This record gives sequence, structure tokens and C-alpha cells, in this order.
Amino acid sequence: MTPTELIQHAAKARLNAYAPYSGFLVGAAVCDPEGEFAVGCNVENAAYGSTICAEAAALSQAVARGIREITDIAIVTTSGATPCGNCRQLIAELAPNCRVHLANLEPNSTRTLTIEELLPDAFTSVP
Ligand code: THU
Repeated sequence: MTPTELIQHAAKARLNAYAPYSGFLVGAAVCDPEGEFAVGCNVENAAYGSTICAEAAALSQAVARGIREITDIAIVTTSGATPCGNCRQLIAELAPNCRVHLANLEPNSTRTLTIEELLPDAFTSVP
């Protein structure tokens, strides 16, 4: 799957975001080398700390569907935002070699980074 196609899946999932508190819709999609993919969106809660991020939702769905060799993750927001710290940690655990595509709603403005760039010197195992 191309990054553009993965971004399209994330953009579609974004439209299902449940974000009545922040109004900030996030979509995410992950894929493996065979083109299998999983999507997620943010799901907020009146108890704000119970909110589920889009990346966490997509990664959880990928694990549940047996998608473990994640090569790419696309994250779509209005601003091309970077993932939060907790989501960086989740990506480092489940998709340590992936490309992270940060897209906004405009074509040809995607930034692509590695998780090592987003979370250098990550905590990856209990000593
Ligand atoms: N959010 C995500 O879905 N992913 C991130 O990496 C950062 C933040 C969501 C959580 C909340 O619903 C909204 O964006 C504002 O923080």
C-alpha cells in the first residue's frame, strides 16, 4: 500500500472521530507489507483521561487482527500534528521500524519521520 492510500484510509477514519470535547478529529491507519491495514480515530470521554487516541485505536485493532509487521502509520489531522508522547511509546513498542506519515487535509504536504526521530532513546524493555 502506498503512503497516499494509507493516508486516505486514515482520513476516512478521522471522519468517525468522537471528539465532542476538543473538537480535534484525528484519524490513523497502519499497514503491513502485504497491504493488510487497520484504522482508528480518537474516542473522547467526559472523563478526559479515558480518551483513546487515534493511533492507540489503530494499533490495538492491528494487534487484534494479527497485523504485527507494521511498516507505515499515517496520522491525519487538520494541522499535520505529531503524535502525543503516549502514542510515540505505543508506536515504539508495536511498530519500531515504521515510517510515520503526518498528514493534514491538503495534498502534498505530508511529513514522514521515523519513530526514532519522534522518540529517541525510547524505553523498550524492563531492565
Ligand atoms: N489525540 C490523538 O488522537 N492522538 C494524538 O497523538 C494526540 C491527541 C486526540 C486526543 C483528543 O481526543 C484530541 O486529540 C485532543 O487532544
